[in-house]
Amino acid sequence: MQTPDPSDPDPTAEAFAADLAESFADDLKPGTVLLDGQYTILGFLNSGGFGITYLAQDSLDRKVVIKECFPNALCRRSTSAVRPRSRKHTHDLRSIVENFIAEARNLAKLVHPNIVGVHQVFEDNDTAYMAIDFIDGKDLEDILSSTDQAFGPAEIVVLLQKMLSAVDFIHQAGILHRDISPDNILIDQNRNPVLIDFGAASQATLVPTRVLTGRRVVKDGYSPQEFYLTGAEQSPASDLYSLGATFYHVITGGPPVESQKRLAMVAEGSPDPYRPLVGRYRGYPDGFLASIDASLKVLQRDRLQSASVWAEMIRIRKPGEVAPPEPALRAQPEAARPQPEPPAPAGAVGRLANLAAQVSAWRGRR
Ligand SMILES: Nc1ncnc2c1ncn2[C@@H]1O[C@H](COP(=O)(O)OP(=O)(O)O)[C@@H](O)[C@H]1O
Ligand SMILES: [Mg+2]
Repeated sequence: MQTPDPSDPDPTAEAFAADLAESFADDLKPGTVLLDGQYTILGFLNSGGFGITYLAQDSLDRKVVIKECFPNALCRRSTSAVRPRSRKHTHDLRSIVENFIAEARNLAKLVHPNIVGVHQVFEDNDTAYMAIDFIDGKDLEDILSSTDQAFGPAEIVVLLQKMLSAVDFIHQAGILHRDISPDNILIDQNRNPVLIDFGAASQATLVPTRVLTGRRVVKDGYSPQEFYLTGAEQSPASDLYSLGATFYHVITGGPPVESQKRLAMVAEGSPDPYRPLVGRYRGYPDGFLASIDASLKVLQRDRLQSASVWAEMIRIRKPGEVAPPEPALRAQPEAARPQPEPPAPAGAVGRLANLAAQVSAWRGRR
């Protein structure tokens, strides 16, 4: 084995440091004021490709989180203002800012105890901002990576019930979150889960503009296979897959096998490498682990289709109350389907036809 010479700079590390310096150079510095002094930036929290998140303080000294629209492929910072990288980016940058404002206004209408609240949407520095509730807590990703046994079965059941209530609420409003994962769920001081980061969310009415403005997010382990396919149908079942994968992680300590690998194996005629939860863990109510397995089927049509059906499956029943026999996995109200899939023939033939379509789309992508 070769020992690295400490005097020899590692080119990968240097490039990484340069990248990091460049991405951090873009953030607004502490003390910067926004909206004529209504908000003061306290510090940087995170930066994704489409925006920068800050901790800030409002004029009443309350902590808030500010999300800045900053699609870094198209813009750069000049003093505080956000400018297009070149003239050819002007139009696209403006569309993204306008879309950010429209989506933030939609998000502001979603008032639910397990969804982060939006205080204000405003323009400044030639871009747009949203001020949202500061949640005093930790994200689920941090919690799961710092301890093995963060939650017991009873608490996990309650967490999933609350998240299903939040996800059902957004689906009823015709919105798909599209980026549900442990880092986008905060757990507050009262152990209440709060869904954040609607940066990738899409609304049925905004679908035609999504190619230009929507943030495409793929998170291995949490994204369903259709998120890897350009132009593939996305439905409430797509969010439910991600929610199922998140809870699979909470229960087992890691996410399920990546959906793309699963699809590839199924397409080759090999067994699905997914390891079901049923039978592996004790302490959960009947049907609870099976419901997560049902949300995590590799093909959209085979999954649980609505958050309300899932919530009903895991509702704790009163003594003597009988559970419904077999949940109608595909039965769902029309309103909960922002992007309905085309009807497919029923039964095994339909499933095969659907598999063939998904596999050929998947092959075409390679
Ligand atoms: N409302 C909030 N309260 C507290 N922390 C937050 C809040 N929103 C975001 N954060 C923290 O900042 C991180 C990034 O925020 P997020 O909205 O997920 O943006 P992105 O993933 O697009 O960078 C989160 O994982 C969380 O740790
Ligand atoms: Mg996030």
